[in-house]
Amino acid sequence: MYFSEIEKLRREIWESFEKIEDLSQLENFRIKYLGKKGKITFFLKLLKDLPLEEKKYLGKELNELKELLEERLKEKEREILFKEEDKDLGLDLTLPGRSPSIGTLHPLTQVIDELCEIFSKLGFEIVTGPEIETEYYNFTALNIPEWHPARDMQATFYLKNRALLRTHTSPMQIRAMLERIPPLRIVAPGKVYRCDADIRHSPMFHQIEGLMVDKEVSFSDLKGVLTYFAKEIFGEKTKVRFRPSYFPFTEPSLEMDIECVICKGKGCKVCGETGWLEILGAGMVHPEVFRVVNYDIEIWQGFAFGLGIERIAMIKYGIDDIRMFFENHLLFLQSFK
Ligand code: FA5
Repeated sequence: MYFSEIEKLRREIWESFEKIEDLSQLENFRIKYLGKKGKITFFLKLLKDLPLEEKKYLGKELNELKELLEERLKEKEREILFKEEDKDLGLDLTLPGRSPSIGTLHPLTQVIDELCEIFSKLGFEIVTGPEIETEYYNFTALNIPEWHPARDMQATFYLKNRALLRTHTSPMQIRAMLERIPPLRIVAPGKVYRCDADIRHSPMFHQIEGLMVDKEVSFSDLKGVLTYFAKEIFGEKTKVRFRPSYFPFTEPSLEMDIECVICKGKGCKVCGETGWLEILGAGMVHPEVFRVVNYDIEIWQGFAFGLGIERIAMIKYGIDDIRMFFENHLLFLQSFK
C-alpha cells in the first residue's frame, strides 16, 4: 500500500460524498467506506503487514480520514433530516409570516387605568398599600372600635393573629396621612375582600379610594369632583344624584348613584327597577380620623370617597353578572380590545 493509493481513495470518497442526497444513499456510502468490509476498513487491516515507519505514517493518515468522514457524515445526516422535515411541513419560505396574536389588558385594569388618569388630571397622587391588614388600620383607626356594629357591615375574612384581608381601601386614608404632611390628594386602587357572593357581589373585588386634605375643602368640592369623574367616565350627559348615608369615618356621609345606563332611568332588572345605580360612598373626613393621624382639625379639612371598580365596569360595558370578570373566558376578554 502506497501513499498514492490513499490519496486516490481520499479523492473518490469526497467526490461521492458530494453526491449523497438522501438517507439511503448516505447509508450505502457508510457501508462502502466505513463498514466491516468497507474500503477504509480494508486499508486499515493492511497496515499490520507494513514496516513500522510506514505503518505509523499511513495509519495516521487513514485514521484522520476516517474521523473526518464520520464527523461529516453526521452533519450530512442532520442536513438531510432538516430538509425532509421542512418538506413534511409543506414549508414555503415565500409565504408571509403569521403574526403573533396580541393580548389585551383585563377590562378591570382598563377601568382602573382610566380612573387613575381622570384623578391624576385633578392633581391626585396614585398610591398602593397592603391587602393583608391589621384590625387597627382596617377598622379602629377609621373610627370603628371593636364593639361597634359597623364592623358587621363588611363581612370580614380573618387570618391568623387577628390579621385580616382588607375589606375596603379606606385603610389607605390612614396610611397616606401618616406618611405625608398636608395638604394632600391621593387615590389608592386595589383589591379588597368580603365574605359576599352573588351576581352583583364578589368575595374579591376592587375599589379605588380617594382622599383630599387641605385648608378649605368643602362638601361642594366633594360633589364637584365626583360629578366631574362620573361625566368623564360615563359621558357628559350622565345624571348623578347624592343620597345621605352613614360611614363611621366620614361625617356627613353620602352615597352617589348614576342614572341607569341600561334603561335610562325608567327602571330595569340591572338597577332593580329604581332607575339608579349606586357606585360609591363618600363624605367629609371625620374629626376622630384626623385625631388618630394627628392632623389639627382647626386647620385641616378633607373629603374621602371609595368606589367599586367592578360596579363601574359593569355599568360602562352593560354587564349584568360580576362573575364574568373572573371566569376569564377568552371571547369575553377579547371583546375589550
Ligand atoms: C366602603 O367600602 C367605604 N370604604 C367607602 C367609603 C370610602 C365611604 C371613603 C366614605 C369615604 P361600601 O361598603 O358601600 O363602602 O363599598 C363601596 C362600593 O364597593 C359599593 O358602592 C360597591 O360599588 C362596591 N362593593 C361593595 N361590596 C362589593 C362586593 N362584594 N362586590 C363588588 N363590589 C362591591
